[in-house]
Amino acid sequence: MKLVLEKKDRIRMFEEGNKLPYDLLLLADETIDAIDQYIHDSEIYIYERGDETLGVYAYQMFDEESIEIKNIAVSKNNQDEGIGQKMLLDAVEKAKKRGFKYLLIGTSNAAFRQLYIYQKIGFEFYEIKKNYFTEKYKEPIIENGIKLNHQLVLRKKL
Ligand code: ACO
Ligand code: ACO
Repeated sequence: MKLVLEKKDRIRMFEEGNKLPYDLLLLADETIDAIDQYIHDSEIYIYERGDETLGVYAYQMFDEESIEIKNIAVSKNNQDEGIGQKMLLDAVEKAKKRGFKYLLIGTSNAAFRQLYIYQKIGFEFYEIKKNYFTEKYKEPIIENGIKLNHQLVLRKKL
C-alpha cells in the first residue's frame, strides 16, 4: 500500500511548545498519567485537514533496530475514513528512511479493528504480554464487550 494524501491533508511533526492533543491521545490510552509516561520522550506527528487536527501518532525508539508506535488515534468523527492507515503508512516510511529494521505496535486482546488494520498494513503477531492491562490499570477496562487483559505486540519488518 502506498501513502496518498487528499489535497487539503498533511502529516506534520508536532512542534514543541504547542499544546499536546490529549483529547486525541486519550482515545488510544486510558489516562493522562499513562500518556505522560512516554509522550515527552516520543516523536509526535499530527494529521491535519486544513487547520483542523484529525489525528495523531507518537513513536519512540525501542532498541537500536526497532521503533514502537506508542499511541495512534483519529478523532471520533473521522474514524473509518482511512486516516489511521495513512498515519501507519507514514510511520512505516519514516522509520524505514531512518534505518530501523522493525516497527512495533501494541494493542489489546479486544481491539478487533486495530488488529485488522495493523495486519492489513503488514504487521505480524510477535509477542503476548500476559496480564498487561490488568496489572497496569486498577479499574477493569471493557472494549467490544470483552475485558482487556493481555497486550498483543505486533511487528512489521521494514
Ligand atoms: N473489525 C474489523 N475491521 C473493522 C472494524 C471491526 N470491528 N471496524 C472497522 N473496521 C475496518 C474498516 O472497515 C476499515 O477497513 P478498510 O479500510 O479495509 O475498509 C478499517 O477497519 C478502518 O481503517 P481506517 O479508516 O484507516 O481507521 P481509522 O482512521 O479509524 O484509524 C484507529 C484507526 C487509529 C484505531 C482509530 O479508529 C482510533 O483512533 N481508534 C481509537 C483509538 C485507538 O484505539 N487507537 C489505537 C490504540 S493502540 C495504540 O495506540 C498503540
Ligand atoms: N468481528 C467481531 N465480531 C463479529 C464479527 C466480526 N467480523 N462477525 C460477527 N461477529 C459477532 C456477532 O456480532 C455475534 O456477536 P454477539 O452474539 O455478541 O452479537 C458473534 O460474532 C457471532 O456469534 P454466533 O452467532 O454464536 O456465531 P456462529 O453461530 O456463526 O458460530 C463460527 C461461529 C463457529 C465461527 C461460525 O461462524 C463458523 O462456522 N464459521 C466458519 C468456520 C470457522 O471459522 N470455525 C472456527 C475455526 S477454528 C476451529 O474450528 C477450532
